[in-house]
Amino acid sequence: MLNMDVEPSSNLCLSINPVESSHLDQILDIEQEAFSAPWTRVMFEAELVGNPFSRLYVATPIDDQGQPEDIAGYLCYWIVFEELRILNLAVCQPWRRQGIARRFVQFALYDAQTQGVERALLEVRASNTAAQSLYDGFGFREYGSRAAYYTDPAEDAILMRLEPIEFDDPF
Ligand SMILES: CC(C)(COP(=O)(O)OP(=O)(O)OC[C@H]1O[C@@H](n2cnc3c(N)ncnc32)[C@H](O)[C@@H]1OP(=O)(O)O)[C@@H](O)C(=O)NCCC(=O)NCCS
Repeated sequence: MLNMDVEPSSNLCLSINPVESSHLDQILDIEQEAFSAPWTRVMFEAELVGNPFSRLYVATPIDDQGQPEDIAGYLCYWIVFEELRILNLAVCQPWRRQGIARRFVQFALYDAQTQGVERALLEVRASNTAAQSLYDGFGFREYGSRAAYYTDPAEDAILMRLEPIEFDDPF
């Protein structure tokens, strides 16, 4: 498991650490705010304890006194042999547009790259242009779609892929 203290582009000091059970209440609050069809506690717990491929991390901003603030976001991905699959990523409203999601994606790509992973895959709602722009910035490209993949509301998924995994070392 990785642990990292990183500085996003805004000079925000951020600590990225593995999720613990005690984080789940805050994660669920962010999840329910961020998604119309949110993951449940049981789904997060399954990633945390029941899936050997799964990695779940939280980002905690560090204040001027060096103290951790509340959780600003989380990331869930799988490393399954030669593939990285990004499953869930959200940043709570007050912390958006400060580079936290970008740091999370860099973090996952770095983890994958150091393990010899060949490609990164993800699905995103067709209307989620913010997330598509985030991934596009790393070189992810659309390679297909899945009709009515999402519910609440029903919507197509855009399939995005980055292969090979190449990016500037951010750390
Ligand atoms: C998508 C999301 C994770 C972005 O988090 P964030 O920390 O605000 O993103 P960052 O500040 O790291 O932004 C990185 C890049 O993403 C893109 N981006 C992020 N928010 C955007 C927005 N509202 N509109 C357009 N582009 C956006 C931009 O390309 C941005 O780069 P820039 O700031 O240089 O323009 C956040 O908006 C969120 O949690 N949304 C709800 C959940 C979600 O959609 N998750 C993704 C599921 S695949």
